[in-house]
Amino acid sequence: MAHYELLEEIERYGRKNKIPILLDDSLEYINNLLSKIKPKRILEIGTAIGFSAINFSKYLTEGGRIDTIEIESLRVEQALENIEKVGVSDKIRVMEGDALNILPYLNELYDVVFIDAAKGKYNEFFEHALRLCKKGGYIIADNVLYKGMVQSDYNKHKQRTAVNKLRIFISSVLSNNKLDSNLLDIGDGLMICKVKEEN
Ligand SMILES: C[S@@+](CC[C@H](N)C(=O)[O-])C[C@H]1O[C@@H](n2cnc3c(N)ncnc32)[C@H](O)[C@@H]1O
Repeated sequence: MAHYELLEEIERYGRKNKIPILLDDSLEYINNLLSKIKPKRILEIGTAIGFSAINFSKYLTEGGRIDTIEIESLRVEQALENIEKVGVSDKIRVMEGDALNILPYLNELYDVVFIDAAKGKYNEFFEHALRLCKKGGYIIADNVLYKGMVQSDYNKHKQRTAVNKLRIFISSVLSNNKLDSNLLDIGDGLMICKVKEEN
C-alpha cells in the first residue's frame, strides 16, 4: 500500500529548502486533468525530489508507470528515497542525466509528457515531447511565464535569454495546428497541449 500521506512532509521539505517543486494551484490543475485522463504512461522531464511524480502516480491505471529524468545526482538520490518511502518504486523509474542526452533513446509512446526543467531548453524538450506523445495525449509544460517575466518588457540581463526562448516556445506551440493548446495563467504559467495528430 502506498503511503501518500508522506507527500505533505516531502512538500514541506521542498518548500523549506527552496526546491522548485510544483506550486499548489498548478498541481491541483494537473492532478484534476490526470484523474480524468487516467494515464498508463507518463514521461516527466525534471524530477527534483520526486514530489510531482509521486503525486501523479496516484492517477496511473493498473500496471502504469512514470519515467522521470533528473540531471542532478543529489536530487536523484532524494527522489529515490522519497519514492521508496512512499512505496511507489514499482510505478516510478528515475533516469539520471541531461534529458537532452536521454530523450533521443526513448521510443515508447506516452499518454502524458510533463516538461518541468531548464527553461532555456524548452524548445528542444518539446521537439522530443511531440515525438513521444500519443495522439489524444497531453504535453504539459510548467513555468512558461517565468515569474511574469515573459509578459514584461523589462527583464534583467541574466534572465533575458531564457525569457526570449520561452517567448519563442510559446508562439511556436500556440501556432502548431497539430495541437490544441492553452496557456493558463496559473502558478508560474502552465501550457496544456492536447495532441490532435501524431507528429
Ligand atoms: C522545477 S524542478 C522539478 C520539480 C518537480 N517536477 C516537482 O514539481 O516536484 C526542475 C528540475 O529539473 C532538473 N533539470 C534541469 N535541467 C535538466 C535537464 N537538462 N535534464 C534533466 N533534468 C534537468 C533540475 O535539476 C531540477 O531538479
